[in-house]
Amino acid sequence: MSDLGVGLVGCGKISGIYLDNAPRLDGVRIVACTDVDAERARETAHERAIDACTMDELLAHRDVQVVLCLTPPDFHADVALAAIGAGKHIYTEKPLATSVDDARWVLQSAAAAGVLVGSAPDTFLGAGIQTIKAAIDDGRIGAPAVAQIRLLARPPETWHPSPAFLYAELSGPLMDLGPYAVATAIELFGDVEAVTGLGTRPRTSGVTLDGTEFPIVEPTRVAGVLAHESGVLTTITTTDDANAPARYGVEVHGLDGTLLGGDPNTFDGPVVLARRGELDQTLPLVSEWNENSRGLGLQDLCRAARDGTPQRASGELGLQVLETLLDIRDCALSGV
Ligand SMILES: NC(=O)c1ccc[n+]([C@@H]2O[C@H](COP(=O)([O-])OP(=O)(O)OC[C@H]3O[C@@H](n4cnc5c(N)ncnc54)[C@H](O)[C@@H]3O)[C@@H](O)[C@H]2O)c1
Repeated sequence: MSDLGVGLVGCGKISGIYLDNAPRLDGVRIVACTDVDAERARETAHERAIDACTMDELLAHRDVQVVLCLTPPDFHADVALAAIGAGKHIYTEKPLATSVDDARWVLQSAAAAGVLVGSAPDTFLGAGIQTIKAAIDDGRIGAPAVAQIRLLARPPETWHPSPAFLYAELSGPLMDLGPYAVATAIELFGDVEAVTGLGTRPRTSGVTLDGTEFPIVEPTRVAGVLAHESGVLTTITTTDDANAPARYGVEVHGLDGTLLGGDPNTFDGPVVLARRGELDQTLPLVSEWNENSRGLGLQDLCRAARDGTPQRASGELGLQVLETLLDIRDCALSGV
């Protein structure tokens, strides 16, 4: 089966792993790239033997059927709408947009144009979360009742060269890391019907690796509670003020047992099944996608466009993730 040509927009930090993984993804062939920093696009194009373009050239490129948006979040909706206007499918890094109105407009525009929308995160398609899902579906813990999902990270200024956008309005750990938690919760327990949340902001500024001060405007510690239509209650915790990821980022409890899984910001396990009166058991992972497999969602979209298979990292999921996070944020900011 032939691959779809992909044009990459935004040649920053996360673009490397998409470019590394593309050759092993079914249906995906990255053929061109662009960046507002033209030199950066030229360097990426040279390293990866693809075409360096302006945005207009990328949208007009005859081999580009899919636009892959890897810009900071503020530009996601604009890039998506430009891609849709040019008749291209769009897969965007998270979030789908920074407002629910923009996200809905992207989905409506795509539907009218007959093109597909996909949105990160795609970590829930990896071996870790899919192994938890298979164990739940197999009845290993009985009906799931409550879950805890923790996304604990070190301050972005300790690892990202330009971290200010990760603390800007509508970013912060909830909006940056929360998508992994919420997408995982929806994948495992279904649609969300109500949420609440709390947050605190002990730090109001940070310093980049090169010594520049920047403001921190969002809470750096946020907890949210999701009531799913299925009756499962999921608590999510996100922070930039931790030393390391939680040992078990995902815990799912049912009457017959507990599942313990890794960090939902990765694709890996381990996944441990704990049942009363039995030794804990590390479950075999259900797929080989257990390393940094960013791009599985792009593969999902390319296969859907090519073969008509159902999309899992879909625009609709991206919209529900965004709505859920913004509802938690409203609660966190109002101190409810
Ligand atoms: N860095 C990570 O570890 C990571 C992990 C998962 C997801 N993401 C997501 O990936 C996206 C990008 O993050 P990043 O860390 O690579 O950011 P980055 O700042 O390193 O790179 C963004 C790139 O986009 C370019 N750009 C900005 N606006 C543009 C526009 N309108 N058109 C074309 N190019 C534009 C910038 O010049 C820059 O090269 C974000 O949505 C982020 O949430 C990042």
